[in-house]
Amino acid sequence: MSQRPTKSIFVTGTDTDVGKTYVCNLLLQQLNQQGQRAIGYKPIAAGAQLTQSGLRNDDALILQRASAGEPAYDVINPICYEAAIAPHIAAKIQGEQITTAQLNHWWQGRLAGYDIEIVEGAGGWRLPINDKQWLSEFVVSQQLDVILVVGMKLGCLNHALLTVEAIKNDGLNIIGWVANQLAQPMSHYQTNLDYLIDQIEAPLLGEVTTNQVVTLQHPVFDLSLI
Ligand SMILES: Nc1ncnc2c1ncn2[C@@H]1O[C@H](COP(=O)(O)OP(=O)(O)OP(=O)(O)O)[C@@H](O)[C@H]1O
Ligand SMILES: [Mg+2]
Repeated sequence: MSQRPTKSIFVTGTDTDVGKTYVCNLLLQQLNQQGQRAIGYKPIAAGAQLTQSGLRNDDALILQRASAGEPAYDVINPICYEAAIAPHIAAKIQGEQITTAQLNHWWQGRLAGYDIEIVEGAGGWRLPINDKQWLSEFVVSQQLDVILVVGMKLGCLNHALLTVEAIKNDGLNIIGWVANQLAQPMSHYQTNLDYLIDQIEAPLLGEVTTNQVVTLQHPVFDLSLI
């Protein structure tokens, strides 16, 4: 019997620091408020504090807190490096290598009893995990549906279109995308938003505004639709 949650969604972004964790946190909170048992997952983290319990990454701690029943840290984040650098470089410095096989191994040993899982990527779609593999190959091997967080700032049109193209070329389904308004408001925000709505062949799931939850639209949280 599979121990996987019923549904797993991979959340990627147009870049690092575009609000993936912010949006994952909102999604988890809303799902749990709706009575789903939702859990977060951060397969790879780089940038962590060494505590008495081991390495702790801020993103994973946020996902842990937002998950139903506060699962153990290791369940949320199996691979963690202290240095806030590209994870494959952090691994190499320690004489280690992250592989798709390793990610798939961790993927198997997860908690039972959850309805939905929100998996936060690291960096953007083509994040290297070693000199030959990308994190996106793990997402392909698990055939996860994807949500794209677009950090609404100058340059995001190019990043968003390239990311959508890459995800589609990888044969994966994009459930939709989220427009995340970062702390620094984007000049001509609405015009940029309208362009992306027109160009991205996936629904806009919602806009997240600065320091505000949600104009995220509810259907994305309806398990019957995702
Ligand atoms: N809508 C928002 N309103 C206010 N602050 C935001 C918003 N979105 C993101 N932030 C802030 O911007 C910073 C970057 O966001 P976040 O950590 O979610 O990015 P990320 O894509 O998960 O980055 P990483 O690649 O490191 O995982 C954080 O300090 C976060 O709190
Ligand atoms: Mg993050």
